[in-house]
Amino acid sequence: MGEHVWTAVDEYVEGVLHPSDAILTATLEDSETAGLPRINVSASQGVMLQLLATMRQARSILEIGTLGGYSTIYLARALPPDGRLITLEASATHAQVARANIARAGFADIVDVREGDALATLPRLQAEGTEPFDFIFLDANKDAYPAYLKWSLKLSAPGTVVVADNVVRRGAVADAASEDPNVRGVRRFLELVAAEPRLTATVVQTVGSKGYDGFAIAVVT
Ligand code: SAH
Ligand code: DHB
Ligand code: MG
Repeated sequence: MGEHVWTAVDEYVEGVLHPSDAILTATLEDSETAGLPRINVSASQGVMLQLLATMRQARSILEIGTLGGYSTIYLARALPPDGRLITLEASATHAQVARANIARAGFADIVDVREGDALATLPRLQAEGTEPFDFIFLDANKDAYPAYLKWSLKLSAPGTVVVADNVVRRGAVADAASEDPNVRGVRRFLELVAAEPRLTATVVQTVGSKGYDGFAIAVVT
């Protein structure tokens, strides 16, 4: 059993539970045409994010790492019409593609794509007096996950849900000797989560069309 069967099951689940979605298909097509890397969440993972944000009854969402806006659109679908979503993206090209994809999905008015290094944008959000977010999705550079966690806590309140992608990394997260900066970033992130009394958290391992990876899921108590 391996990647082949994981992908087959992902395709089966997508076919039975979330079949063809013209907006998301066009989002991936235009992302690919623009040369963006194919590192978006899978469709079933996107729906999982939407479900978690819906269960939280989120009215405000922060995403760090927009790419072409694929995960952004799933998250925006969980919001009420007067909800808001701020998504942070370092690449001007990615941000431009994302804005077009998000507009086609009908979310131009509730989604704000903020271009620039997230570590420069996050202090600005705080300085602007941004209300605490109900839901935060971390999916940008993994070496900065520890810093993103600290900012997430500053921009949160009791009940805020924090989800972080790519924390299992084909099992490499369990390797304490790893010198991979992504693995080290994720391990430090999890250590900070563990040391933070305000957070209750776990890691959910996943397999599927994106291989073997996982999400950290935390709630601010
Ligand atoms: N969430 C997206 C995938 C994000 S891929 C989806 O599932 O559809 C990671 C993104 O983070 C890339 O677009 C990359 O340009 C961006 N990124 C990397 N470092 C960043 C930084 N320091 N600040 C903001 N964005 C960053
Ligand atoms: C990759 C996957 C991701 O989900 C991500 O956020 C960054 C990189 C990858 O497969 O390389
Ligand atoms: Mg990811």
